[in-house]
Amino acid sequence: MEQSGNVKTILECRNVSKEFDAYDKSGKTEVLRDISFSVKENEFLVLFGPGQCGKTTLINVLAGLETATSGEVIENGKKVTKPAPERGVVYQKTALFPWLSVMGNVEFGPRVRGQDKKTRRETAKHYIDLVGLSGFEKSYPSQLSGGMRQRVGIARAYCNQPEIMLMDEPFGHLDAQTRYMMEEELQRIWQSEKRTVIFVTNNIEEALFLADRIILLTNCPSGIKKEYIIDMPHPRSYVDPKFLSYRQEITENMDKSL
Ligand SMILES: Nc1ncnc2c1ncn2[C@@H]1O[C@H](COP(=O)(O)OP(=O)(O)O)[C@@H](O)[C@H]1O
Ligand SMILES: [Mg+2]
Repeated sequence: MEQSGNVKTILECRNVSKEFDAYDKSGKTEVLRDISFSVKENEFLVLFGPGQCGKTTLINVLAGLETATSGEVIENGKKVTKPAPERGVVYQKTALFPWLSVMGNVEFGPRVRGQDKKTRRETAKHYIDLVGLSGFEKSYPSQLSGGMRQRVGIARAYCNQPEIMLMDEPFGHLDAQTRYMMEEELQRIWQSEKRTVIFVTNNIEEALFLADRIILLTNCPSGIKKEYIIDMPHPRSYVDPKFLSYRQEITENMDKSL
């Protein structure tokens, strides 16, 4: 396993390119072009790029849901070929099972893997508490707000004890107020139970609020434009002069959407 200092590399994306057959069948659409980066244990990495640049495609390749046209993804020395519980995914719109309670949704992964009821219930309860949903164990998804559903999605991903969390604009559909709150909550959850996180967003404030490091992606076909180490203590403030100067620098380097 690759070590640098004492920090372990968990995941490596090596020269990943991805093409799809164009929707109109007119040829190929190149979406990702030669993307390489690695992620250290417990790092909070943000992939930041404009809309439609290929962020979801990249997360899907990292998750093992899509295969790269060329290049590969290596997790702990092993090539990623399919989805696995070691990589928890939280989507923009979390698809919860509507017929299962919050508890039923959160304990779903361990249950299908055959974990005994007592152990999985204890683990699920721990994560339900961690995401701030104590008392809602018996509620059903239709009874929850958008922010609460995303909390369930996060608890469900954590309950599989993943080595790495892949988050694809998980707060993208929430109103601004709820979004700020969820960013703070996610930061608190990450501080309390460290995990390696790869978080995708097209929102610069969100990126700067959360990231140890930001990778700026270009317009489609997406490549890596620049990388920024974000050296600011938590909790961060949106109006801190350092925050604003990072914001200006990164925004100036960002490709404008068409
Ligand atoms: N299965 C697919 N077939 C063809 N084109 C696709 C497919 N999936 C995504 N694309 C195209 O790839 C581009 C990037 O999409 P996506 O990864 O969803 O971007 P983002 O998440 O950054 O908004 C878009 O132009 C989209 O139309
Ligand atoms: Mg997307």
